[in-house]
Formats: sequence, structure tokens, C-alpha cells
Amino acid sequence: MIQFVPLRLNHLPLMHEWFARPHLKQWWTRGESFTLEQIAARYGARARGEDTARGYLIELDEQPVGYAQYYPVRDDSLPDGVVKPTNGLFTAFRKEELAGVDLFLADPLGLGKGMGTTVLKAFLEAELFPKFRVAVIDPLRVNERAIRSFEKSGFRRTEFSEAPASLVMVAVRPPA
Ligand SMILES: CC(C)(COP(=O)(O)OP(=O)(O)OC[C@H]1O[C@@H](n2cnc3c(N)ncnc32)[C@H](O)[C@@H]1OP(=O)(O)O)[C@@H](O)C(=O)NCCC(=O)NCCS
Repeated sequence: MIQFVPLRLNHLPLMHEWFARPHLKQWWTRGESFTLEQIAARYGARARGEDTARGYLIELDEQPVGYAQYYPVRDDSLPDGVVKPTNGLFTAFRKEELAGVDLFLADPLGLGKGMGTTVLKAFLEAELFPKFRVAVIDPLRVNERAIRSFEKSGFRRTEFSEAPASLVMVAVRPPA
């Protein structure tokens, strides 16, 4: 069974261990290494429930297998590639109905076996779509595995990105 457990401060050492794994260094921290203190600075407010972004450990049968987060899209919190107030994303949708989403799986041996698709669909249904009508995700264009997985989870590619390296993908809450 998949569960989304709100991020707590005592999860941060595990996040620190995960962030050092090569697949997360490549696709999540984008080459950067983080100390535990830096992770606390970045995720501490979220773990204390003091951030508008919400972070969750992904648990499969009560074992932590990854991390997912969503954030309301606001002027100071925009998906990669969305820069200008005139971006087409804001013509297509109202800002208040948009939330950005990100996730990773921690086990490199578990990638490409369908889990990410299952987890993302469950995350949208359980956490994001009850509060926001539209989910936005911003993979690097070279992250073909993630893009394929996000398409299978209901996201479509758009032309909204203003940054050549990023792709902006959107998923709209299905009608009830
Ligand atoms: C992104 C992520 C959550 C996707 O989860 P996943 O379980 O690996 O993905 P899935 O197995 O559900 O789907 C992957 C799809 O891409 C395909 N794929 C795998 N490697 C690929 C590659 N190198 N190029 C193109 N497609 C690839 C798979 O075959 C599968 O498609 P298919 O079912 O049509 O055959 C996971 O890979 C991950 O955590 N990656 C590291 C962190 C990351 O990239 N996060 C996203 C940041 S935006």
C-alpha cells in the first residue's frame, strides 16, 4: 500500500543519505552535494509545516521509498521554465488553480519498473487534486525516463517553458 507521510524533521537524515545517491545527484540536486545542515535549511520549514510547499515521504508497505512535494504556484514559487508574468501557463489557467509537483524514488534499482507512475497518480489523487485543479511538473528535457513516466501519469507536454533545458508539463484534475 502506498502512503504519503508528511515530512518531519526526523526524516531529514534519511533525505541527506538519499541525496548523495548518484541518480538523485544527477536528476534531483543537479550535481550539487548537500550537508545535513543545508538540507535542514532547505526542507526544515516544510518539515515543521511552516511552508506553503508540502513535502511527503512516499511509503510502500510502511517502508520509505522516496519523496514527493507540491507547492502553490506563485510569483515567488514558479516551475522551472516559467519566468514571465505573461507566460502562456497563466493564460491557460488561473494561478490559484496551479500547483507544482516534484518527486523521486530513492532506490536506483527500482527505477523504470512503473513505480513512479503509480506513485505520482496516487499523489495527485490523494494530495494535490483535492486542493488544486491543475498540476505542473518541470523535468529537464534530457530526463526522458521522467518525462515518459509523467506522460503515463496523465501529464501532457506543453510549449510553456521559456528555458531551453526544461519542459513544462501539465495535468488537469479529471472531472468528478
Ligand atoms: C522520475 C521517476 C519518479 C519515474 O519513476 P519510474 O518508476 O522510474 O518510471 P516508470 O517506470 O513509471 O516510467 C518510466 C518510463 O520511461 C521509460 N524509460 C526508462 N528509461 C528510459 C530512458 N533512459 N529513456 C527513455 N525512456 C526511458 C520506461 O520504459 C517507462 O516507459 P514505458 O512504461 O512506456 O516502457 C524516477 O525515475 C526517479 O525517481 N528518477 C530520479 C529522480 C527524478 O528524475 N525525478 C524527477 C525530477 S523532475
